[in-house]
Amino acid sequence: MVRESARRAARAERLLTADDAEGPPPRHVRPRFARGGVALLIAVGGALLLGSTAAVTALVSGGTPDVAAQAQLLSDAPPSVSALPVPVVKQMQVAADICGVPAVMRALEAHDDAGAITAAGGAESFRSAVAEGRARCVDLGDPTRVWTVVNKARPYSPVDYRPTGLVMPDGVRSIEGGALRSDAASALTAMVTAAREAGVGEIALESGFRSYSTQQGSYGRHVDQRGQDGADLVSARPGHSEHQSGLAGDVVACAGGCGTLDDLAATAQGAWIVDHAWEHGWIVRYVAGATGVTGYSPEPWHLRYIGPELSRAYHDGGWTSLEEFFGLEPAPAYVG
Ligand code: DAL
Ligand code: ZN
Repeated sequence: MVRESARRAARAERLLTADDAEGPPPRHVRPRFARGGVALLIAVGGALLLGSTAAVTALVSGGTPDVAAQAQLLSDAPPSVSALPVPVVKQMQVAADICGVPAVMRALEAHDDAGAITAAGGAESFRSAVAEGRARCVDLGDPTRVWTVVNKARPYSPVDYRPTGLVMPDGVRSIEGGALRSDAASALTAMVTAAREAGVGEIALESGFRSYSTQQGSYGRHVDQRGQDGADLVSARPGHSEHQSGLAGDVVACAGGCGTLDDLAATAQGAWIVDHAWEHGWIVRYVAGATGVTGYSPEPWHLRYIGPELSRAYHDGGWTSLEEFFGLEPAPAYVG
C-alpha cells in the first residue's frame, strides 16, 4: 500500500511536470465547417458562371449586380472567359435526424440501447448523428444508457445517482468486492475469460461501482495526498466519476497474487486489453495524449463499458476520448 502510494505520488509528479502537449495530438479533431464560407463559395461559383470578375467582386463586397448589369457583364465578357474552369458545386445531402425513425424511438422507449443503435443504421451512423446534432432523442446525460458521458463538465443528475441491477461479475476475481451493472458485468466476464483462453493470464477487478459517498472518501484521500490540483488529475470529484454509473471498472493483472493499477500497463494483460477490450464492449477511457480533453492522466486500468456496437466504432475510428467520439466539448477542468 505504501509502495503503491509512493509510486502514485511519483507518477503524479511526473505527469504534473510533463507537458501533455508533447504527446501525440488527438487523432480526431471535430471538423469545423465555415457555413458562411460555403455560401460564399456557392455565390462565387455563380458569379464565375456569369463570367466576370466584376460580378465576383460585387458579391464578395456584399453588392448584388442587377439583371441588366449581369447581361451587360456577359456581353462585355472577353471570349477567353468561356475557357475559365467552372467550379462544380455539388448538392450536399443532409442526413435526417435519427429520432424520426420509428424503430429508433421504439427501442429507446423499450430501453433497448443496442436496438436503438441498430435501428439508427449501426454504431457509426448513431455516433455521427449524435455528434452532428441529428439525434435529439439521444440523451448523453442519461446515466442508464451505455452511451452516457460523465466528465468534469457533466455530473450526474441527481448528483448522487445510483444505478439499479448491480451484480458481481461471474468468474472474475474481485479485489475490493466491486459490483457492476449486469450488462457490464457479463461483458467483463467474457473479456476476462477471453484473456485467460488466449493464454494472457488472469485479469481481476479491483474496483467497480462506487457510490457518491464512496467517491467522496476516495477523492478526499487523493486531495490529502496531492492537493486539489493533483487529485483532480487522478480522481473524479463525487458525482463526476464513471464508477458511479456501474459502467466502469479498474482492472489489474494477476499471476498468483495481483499487481497494482500502476503495474497493469507493463503486463501481458495490459497489452492485451489495449488490443482486445473493445471486442467485449469496453474501452480504455483515459489514454495518453487526451488529458486536455478528459481532464485525467492516462489510466490504462480504467475500463468503461459502452457496449459492443459502440466500442467497435470507437476502435475502428481510432478515437481516444468519448468526448470527441460524440462531438462534445473537451472537459479538462471543473466549471465553477
Ligand atoms: N480515476 C477516475 C478518473 C475516477 O475517479 O473516476
Ligand atoms: Zn477507474
